[in-house]
Amino acid sequence: MHVYTNRPEISNAVAKHKENGSKIGFVPTMGALHRGHASLFNFALERCDVVVVSIFVNPTQFNNSQDLETYPRDLQADLELLEKINPNLLVFAPGTTTIYGSKIKSIDYDFEGLNMVMEGAFRPGHFEGVATVLKYLFEIVQPHFAFFGEKDYQQLQIVNKLVAIEKLPVAIIGCPISRHDDGLAESSRNMRLSQSHREIAPFIYSTLLKAKELFNDKSIGDVHQFVTNAFADSTLKLEYFEIANASTLEHTESKKANELYRAFIAVFAGDVRLIDNIALN
Ligand code: PAF
Repeated sequence: MHVYTNRPEISNAVAKHKENGSKIGFVPTMGALHRGHASLFNFALERCDVVVVSIFVNPTQFNNSQDLETYPRDLQADLELLEKINPNLLVFAPGTTTIYGSKIKSIDYDFEGLNMVMEGAFRPGHFEGVATVLKYLFEIVQPHFAFFGEKDYQQLQIVNKLVAIEKLPVAIIGCPISRHDDGLAESSRNMRLSQSHREIAPFIYSTLLKAKELFNDKSIGDVHQFVTNAFADSTLKLEYFEIANASTLEHTESKKANELYRAFIAVFAGDVRLIDNIALN
């Protein structure tokens, strides 16, 4: 498996594959790879001739310096996992200067409010950081397709907006959320859960499923009340539960015909923050 750390090498390798007519897929990651990532790589491998995986813990998307410091990093373990999945993957694992030069700074984008709600409201600057690193990574890798998990559904909408704003020649593909057998969404943060929080964490998804059921014949206010009550006695602390329009992510208080809605949730299990979401209709 090829591991590249500098710009010209990965760009040239991709350009050579393109000259041979290969379709290039790209899966950006921050490492700490798990089965959720594996499902993204496999999704990309089924659809593209060559798949590039980037591993880069992006400093500008962390609004909390402790979160950045404690973010799990194990490049060796990540490379071993990637080798097992497919030794033909191209890996791009740059250092911070390779991406940002001497200015570790986000670009200011106008995402028309998409970045102000939910994750954006609770993690100011997060999506500007995500968009900035993706703009740089897309420019370096120049893929035909890029794959993102729907677990970070708001991120997926931001990426679509970034591509439209920057007119980037890449097709963005959303991939279904990968879950453990007990329903907990796969996440690098799950490895930091205590045993008791790991046992209770599937409650997040079971509550979303119940919310989806209620959404059919109850009001949005009733669904909110149900979720708030459900977490009131739990050791999991609800940060937000939101029902929003699936494409604009606008907060919704009443259902309109022909609109698609999604429920979004963020929960603290001790100091570990977990998010999840579900399509409601
Ligand atoms: O979803 C992630 O892991 C990150 O936000 C991404 C897309 C790799 C950008 O750093």
